[in-house]
Formats: sequence, C-alpha cells, structure tokens
Amino acid sequence: MASDSRDRPIAMFDSGFGGLTVARAVIDLLPNENLVYFGDTARYPYGSRRHEEVASFARQITDLLVEQYDPKMIVVACNTASAVALDDLAAQVEVPVIGVLRPGLESLLKVTLTSRVGMIGTVGTVASGAYQRLAAEIAPRVDFRCAACPGFVEFVERGETGSDQVRVLAQRLLAPLIEAKIDGLLLGCTHYPFLARTIAEVMGRDVVLVSSADETAFEVRRALEASNDGRTADCQGMHRFVSSGDVTTFARLGRDLFGPELNHVECHNW
Ligand code: DGL
Repeated sequence: MASDSRDRPIAMFDSGFGGLTVARAVIDLLPNENLVYFGDTARYPYGSRRHEEVASFARQITDLLVEQYDPKMIVVACNTASAVALDDLAAQVEVPVIGVLRPGLESLLKVTLTSRVGMIGTVGTVASGAYQRLAAEIAPRVDFRCAACPGFVEFVERGETGSDQVRVLAQRLLAPLIEAKIDGLLLGCTHYPFLARTIAEVMGRDVVLVSSADETAFEVRRALEASNDGRTADCQGMHRFVSSGDVTTFARLGRDLFGPELNHVECHNW
C-alpha cells in the first residue's frame, strides 16, 4: 500500500487494447500519476456479450484492481462496460469511478455547427440505449444518430487497423451516417481511435471525429484536483500493464498501438 495516498495509482480497464487510447491521454495529461491498465483480452469482445455478463466482468475486474493495486480512482475505459455498469460500480465502490460516455458526448456537442451528430459503438453500447438517454437529457434538440459497428474491435485486436477489409466494412457501416449529413462523429468505443484514419477517410473532411479519450483525461484531472489527490510535479509516474490474455501478443501489438513504453505486460489468469 502506498504511504502517501496520492501515490496510489489510477486504475483503468477495457476488454483489450481499446482503453489504451484513454491511458495514452491520461499519461500525456498527467505524467506524474501512477497508472495500472488492465486489458481483459482473454474475454474480448465485450460488445457482443449480454449486458449482465459485461456488468459482472466489470465488477470482477474492479474488485481485482481495488484489492491488488489499492487505486485512488477507477476509470472504466470501455464504452460497453460504462454503458451497462458505471452507475452500479460508482454506487458500490469506495473510490471514485469515472466512465467515458458523458465526457465523450459533451465533447461531441462542442464541435457541431449543425446540431446533427452521430455516435458509433459496439452492438452492446448502442443497444443499451445509454448514449441515447444521455443525449436526450443533456441535448434534447440535437439530432443524434447511432450506429453499431460489429467487427471493428476484432480488426483492432488483430492489429489490422488500415487494411482494405476494414475500409470496406467501414464504408458499409458508416453509410447511414454519411446519408444523415452529420458534422460530428463520436468514436463511442475506445478501440475506434485506432481506426480513425480509415473512419475519417470514409466519413469525409466535413465530419469532425471526436474521441472520448482526451475528454476523459480532463475529467480525471478535474476529479483529482477537486479531491486534492494529484501527485506533485516532481513525481515521475510509473505505468503497469496487465492482460488476462497472451502477454507476449499484448506487449507486441500494444507497443504498435500505444508506443514503446509498453515494454512489459503482467499476466492475470482468470
Ligand atoms: N473498447 C470497448 C468499448 O469501448 C469494448 C469493445 C469490445 O470489447 O467489444 O466499447
């Protein structure tokens, strides 16, 4: 256990590599903070699973992170898990729990000039209705379209982010949003920023892509400032990565996606 409670890490999790987009943003914004990242690669994808199952995985990982790492905050770096489990986790866990939905949506609403926006996510996220409810609550006048993109996550987990196959799939899945003439598109799955180049080319230059990663990092910073729990500027953050799947693959693909700091991955077997 850390002697200064501010040294406790920020813990975050996702089904696999996706939450690394959020980890990247948090590390860049808060380089002094310790961080532990858990990728549940043994059980990805979450987006096609039943909501109850994803919620129970989210609870299980949160309990593990709390027990093993004594974090000062949990970030649910996964839209699917945030959509189905965030409220329960926030109510049940003693440390603050931050999700990715609200930060992402608020950021999307800032970029639109036409009030016609879209969100893409997993089947689970779109079917949960969580984004639709949140949009109706905070921006009832905005025309908010959602589209599920089954298959995108699997391409990222295979490290295949720029292939012709992913482009063809994107053209098919994004067609209704192009038709709807949106001017802002929220990447409502933390894996999707790794496909941003393809998605941007398919959507065209008039559509601004928004990732929830940066806005979530700002939310983390706000929460730490509010509780006076941030580390001081002279501290150097330590970053740990844990995977429930094959750690060699996680380190190899993770380095390509995240950067060279991802040089060691610890294993957790369920
Ligand atoms: N990256 C996650 C999300 O944001 C999970 C994707 C999946 O495992 O299907 O929804």
